[in-house]
Amino acid sequence: MITLQSVSKLYVSGRGHIQALSEISFTAEEGQGIILVGRSGSGKTTLLNCIGTLEIPDSGAIFYNGTDICRLSLRRRTLFRRREMGFVFQAANLLPWLTVAENLQFPLELNGIRGKAQRGRIEELLGTFGLAGYEKALPVELSGGESQRIAFARAIAHAPAILLADEPTASLDTSTGKQLVELMITLCRTKGTTLFIATHDLELLAMADRVVTLKDGKMEQRT
Ligand SMILES: Nc1ncnc2c1ncn2[C@@H]1O[C@H](COP(=O)(O)OP(=O)(O)OP(=O)(O)O)[C@@H](O)[C@H]1O
Ligand SMILES: [Mg+2]
Repeated sequence: MITLQSVSKLYVSGRGHIQALSEISFTAEEGQGIILVGRSGSGKTTLLNCIGTLEIPDSGAIFYNGTDICRLSLRRRTLFRRREMGFVFQAANLLPWLTVAENLQFPLELNGIRGKAQRGRIEELLGTFGLAGYEKALPVELSGGESQRIAFARAIAHAPAILLADEPTASLDTSTGKQLVELMITLCRTKGTTLFIATHDLELLAMADRVVTLKDGKMEQRT
């Protein structure tokens, strides 16, 4: 369970003071798929970055299983991200000089999953994402949809508790994007992974367990 309590974040830049997040509070349960929507600049990425401990809120707290993850030391935060978090971005960000299997190896190696267990996990992931037999393919040989499926597979390879996806369908056509999000929501529900997806695509909202709408850094409504 993740609980956000009055999370606020202010940016001070050349443009002046920007209240990117203002008193955001909600709870997300294990296995829930939460979709964050709101216009450009409404604070979606900032919120994902705070949950992912890439940014620290100015005030408020984010509790994960009773621990305020905003107060962890730098080292603990790094370990927390490595073990408990998965990240997906707008571009798949696969390492182009490595094969699909080698890209999937990364999070597994970092979490000490090696040898037979690693090979088994990679095979299982490729099967789940409909990409069996792609082990030796290079990212350049994949379509956009396939690349993004590998990016999702890589993000959940180590079975994280929380998966954060920032506009993962932005570079895909509508139906490919929808299929991908459907697969992720179903998969995360089965595995008990809490999934946060920021998107502009209103067609995805119906699939969410919960929609969080942001407007100028504030939460607009709860559904
Ligand atoms: N590092 C930063 N320094 C200063 N201002 C920032 C920084 N990061 C974000 N902002 C500002 O904070 C606000 C929220 O930005 P954020 O990236 O979270 O929006 P978003 O909802 O993800 O937008 P988009 O849909 O365009 O991705 C914006 O006004 C943005 O310009
Ligand atoms: Mg954004």
